[in-house]
Amino acid sequence: VANVQALAEACNGFNDKIPERYIRMEARSEEVITGHGSTLAIPIIDLNKLFDSQSSEECVKLVSACQNWGFFQLINHGVPDEVSENLMNDIAEFFRQPLEAKKAYSQLPNSIEGYGQVFVASDNQKLDWCDRFFLHVRPVESRDLRFWPTNPASFRHSVDVYSSEVAKLSCRLLEFMAKGMGAEPASLLGMFEGQPQSMRMNYYPPCWQADQVLGLSPHSDACGLTILLQKKDVQGLQVKRDGKWFAVDALDGALIVNVGDILEILSNGKFRSAEHRAVIHQNKERISVAVFHQPCQDLIVGPSL
Ligand code: SIN
Ligand code: FE2
Repeated sequence: VANVQALAEACNGFNDKIPERYIRMEARSEEVITGHGSTLAIPIIDLNKLFDSQSSEECVKLVSACQNWGFFQLINHGVPDEVSENLMNDIAEFFRQPLEAKKAYSQLPNSIEGYGQVFVASDNQKLDWCDRFFLHVRPVESRDLRFWPTNPASFRHSVDVYSSEVAKLSCRLLEFMAKGMGAEPASLLGMFEGQPQSMRMNYYPPCWQADQVLGLSPHSDACGLTILLQKKDVQGLQVKRDGKWFAVDALDGALIVNVGDILEILSNGKFRSAEHRAVIHQNKERISVAVFHQPCQDLIVGPSL
């Protein structure tokens, strides 16, 4: 399928028609709820408060967020701003390169690793307004450096540092989540610590008819736990709850955390793996970075906590 960034750059006038396969009527027809306030937005969890053993209030909030939304924003998460900013700058610079340079990292047939587009299963499948770049990041032995850009020069280092911070963070969160489910704090940690972590960088070009396309089709994440970083000031994520879409307004510096399918199963359905999607801007590009955490591969997944 076509490179979306190149497509967006090639036709950028209101008279240019969007190719039929990108037109999504549902993008316009479904109601979206926007706004702040505790009942209208995904909850905000403070990691510092979770660590404060005097207060169980934050842990209650965490469990409620995982049950009702499957999503929350995390503040005071301990990942230094500089680490996230370096990563975001390097990813933005990677996507800014000419198409030919990026194509050196293209996905190989039947593999999701590398630079390319959303996997297409059939000829009439609708397409997302998004290019993406997927890497296996941890354990370190799982890295296939053929897909790791050397330009910008700091790219590999930025990915390594950020992914290590986020791996630590995911372990801390899983401990609190286990506790919140009424299980031993170490029970989830044992399943996830040192296990596979992958990263998907999403590039959403602007679209002159933004309300006719979707950046990312509705889906839930197949993994255990996802931690999402997005480029400052460019929102686009929407989460479904009770049949309605809610626009996420991410706080500056916050990370967005969501429960994946495997964690929903491990929690015996207590936690929700919520459907979510991404929408597009008319004149601003958007970049997001999702880091996925998987449990050990020989784990037999069934309700266990
Ligand atoms: C994702 O679901 O992987 C990304 C969503 C987003 O770009 O906000
Ligand atoms: Fe996702």
